[in-house]
Amino acid sequence: MKKIIVANWKMNPQKPKEAERIFNYLLKNLKTKTKALVVVCPPFLYIEKLLNIKKKSRSKAVKLGAQNCFWEEKGAYTGEVSPNMLKAFGIDYVILGHSERRFILGENSQTISRKIKQAIKAGLTPILCIGEPREERKKGKAFQFLEKEIKSSLKGISLQEAKKVIIAYEPIWAIGTGNFCPADDALTVALFIKKVVSKRFGAKTAKSLKVLYGGSIDANNAKSYLKQEAISGLLVGSSSLKPKEFLKIIKTA
Ligand code: PGA
Repeated sequence: MKKIIVANWKMNPQKPKEAERIFNYLLKNLKTKTKALVVVCPPFLYIEKLLNIKKKSRSKAVKLGAQNCFWEEKGAYTGEVSPNMLKAFGIDYVILGHSERRFILGENSQTISRKIKQAIKAGLTPILCIGEPREERKKGKAFQFLEKEIKSSLKGISLQEAKKVIIAYEPIWAIGTGNFCPADDALTVALFIKKVVSKRFGAKTAKSLKVLYGGSIDANNAKSYLKQEAISGLLVGSSSLKPKEFLKIIKTA
């Protein structure tokens, strides 16, 4: 099974030229058949440019994703982007429920589940992010927190829809801190996520569910996660903006 390596550029880089440089470097170095599925999620504004570069290069090695979308198809929603628009552009994936959106922008699981539904309807693959804050972990309540977050983010999602969802485990305390979650712990959580999904959607769906790990991934620690069968790939933040480092991570897969 191909591992999935997702680049979450967040609100970076600051200049379109820099975005092009990073993307061109990737395409150039991933020309030959890669064993990983690479998904680059840039800010909305860069998507068109990067898609054009991809088309010109005829590269099949990299897919593009968005970092968010809205829960309605169209209409009076100032500042929002619909999943249909993303699909029409040639986007295949969308990250939803990232902790930065939950905690900084006040997103909740109720709206996230609506976004998941709409994204699937538009033909996108949602990458649902879940992860516990440091305090919950300290209190020994990480699993309870995660179970609740999974259930509420997937509320109203049908079995057919659930089959299309990828879940990324991103403990909040590990994001951007250099304090990554040891692979053994991430594996335990990946299996726990599958258990929760199994209770709700059945063993078959849980078995085929792809669980990614994210949080302070770099070229040195990537392998410890990628060698675990139950971890289907990685969601990479800051290291995905360093093209050489990111390429090393991809090659590890
Ligand atoms: P990080 O971010 O790799 O910079 O820790 C991961 C993420 O937030 O997706």
